[in-house]
Amino acid sequence: MSERLQPNTNPADLASTLSGFHFIGGSLTPARSGRTFDVINPATADVVAKAAYGDADDVDVAVAAAAKAQPAWAKMVARQRGKLVAECGRLLSDHVEELGRLVALETGKALRTESRVEASVLADMFVYYGGLASELKGETVPFNPDMLTMTVREPIGVVGAIIPWNVPLLLMALKIAPALVAGNAVVIKSAEEAPLTALRVIQLINQVLPPGLVNILSGFGPECGAPLVAHPKVGKVTFTGSVETGRIVYKTAAEKLIPVTLELGGKSPMIVMGDADIDRAVGGAIIGMRFTRQGQSCTASSRIYVHESIHDEFVARLKAKVDAMKMGDPLDESTDIGTIISPDQYEKVRSYIRMGLESPGAKAHACSAMPTDARLTKGLFVQPVIFTDISPDARPAREEIFGPVACVFRFKDYEEAIARANDSEYGLAATIWTRDLRTALDATRRLEAGFVQVNQNLVVQPMLSYGGMKSSGLGREASLEAMLEHFTHKKTVIINMT
Ligand code: NAI
Ligand code: MG
Repeated sequence: MSERLQPNTNPADLASTLSGFHFIGGSLTPARSGRTFDVINPATADVVAKAAYGDADDVDVAVAAAAKAQPAWAKMVARQRGKLVAECGRLLSDHVEELGRLVALETGKALRTESRVEASVLADMFVYYGGLASELKGETVPFNPDMLTMTVREPIGVVGAIIPWNVPLLLMALKIAPALVAGNAVVIKSAEEAPLTALRVIQLINQVLPPGLVNILSGFGPECGAPLVAHPKVGKVTFTGSVETGRIVYKTAAEKLIPVTLELGGKSPMIVMGDADIDRAVGGAIIGMRFTRQGQSCTASSRIYVHESIHDEFVARLKAKVDAMKMGDPLDESTDIGTIISPDQYEKVRSYIRMGLESPGAKAHACSAMPTDARLTKGLFVQPVIFTDISPDARPAREEIFGPVACVFRFKDYEEAIARANDSEYGLAATIWTRDLRTALDATRRLEAGFVQVNQNLVVQPMLSYGGMKSSGLGREASLEAMLEHFTHKKTVIINMT
């Protein structure tokens, strides 16, 4: 094998080496059309690179490469596949600094609080799934003593994966690593706002994996994502993004009758009872709201119900803590909060803040200070906003904003809090904060969400199934169950021994 790629911690330089390419069949490949689009640094509005403008022709080439590589991979001894996927994880862990810097450059997420952390979770997810290869087991079934009856797990074939821009590395790991360990090949379409780091990851792991097994295309949804979902050789689609696009993906998958996993965001509630440890709950709200990610999280705890007896104290402490966070250059180690991803999202977030300001009775508490650095004047910075006394029917209180905007409501009693928490089209995550065990346990049963926590607000973790109810999606990710249920077919085999 030739020399391994060395980490390049100069993100602008690395971006230029990746400029204009997909990664297909084991190498960097330009779009067949020759077209490209700009990749922007949202902190400065500078163009940092071009990305290949993928379309249906590129999808055809990538799916063909994947289909060619998959059978030999599926035949490999399972633990050997796992070993190679774990080796991808170890290789990625040597590149955490590089990947963190590059993702900070293209997404505006602060390096210290977000981007570097995400790069290290990416590596960890590959190591975790690599160790699960031996768990691709079926069952024996006591059907008839004369017939050996069993189930076996088989790979699906070629998996199409579509990822968004908010946590591109983690979300791609949740898709690629289990798909590969289960014996599939993968074609990923990156988000148009964040194509570079995802491309780099695929370039890096291709040093370990056979060519064609994992391919990545950059491009826009309708031109590149849609043909990937529709491609006849794609036997499974795994998607993270908006509800609106999730429905389009699901419709196409329904026409083809293929399985899908959809992770579609939310408006996650947090209930803080009167007996809760306020400081702990405030810390949980800050993590839950992902203020360090500008609130750009599907799981954001953006509806915070606080008992009236502690509401004002909670809001004061929350505001003080968010005020103390520093907004600024994403690549600066002292920065806590970076930028919104794109002008479109910036406008969307600001329009929700305007709606909140115009909502009768609502009070807006703007936190933290805008950066003053002259290089950042075109940066997409938004001050975090905490709304109080906002009507629960106002759009910012009901709809996913995907920005640093939290609504804090007061409630009188527990039943009211549960009813209001569940009064949402979404059902991704929920938390309750209380010292009372009975209340906590009751809430874990009654909260309509796929990921429920008491007195903490952990983010996605390897080995814990993660996914939504209601409009938040279908299927689970990040666990053994996710690999078995969503990346294999289960086949029943009956052997008549008479
Ligand atoms: P989106 O759902 O349109 O994009 C996500 C991915 O889907 C991107 O890779 C995009 O290119 C692709 N895509 C778009 N249209 C497609 C199509 N017709 N067929 C196949 N793939 C397609 O989300 P977008 O526009 O980036 O953000 C809009 C809103 O969606 C955000 O404001 C936020 O509320 C929500 N969102 C939720 C995410 C989550 O983690 N669940 C992630 C990103 C956005
Ligand atoms: Mg969209």
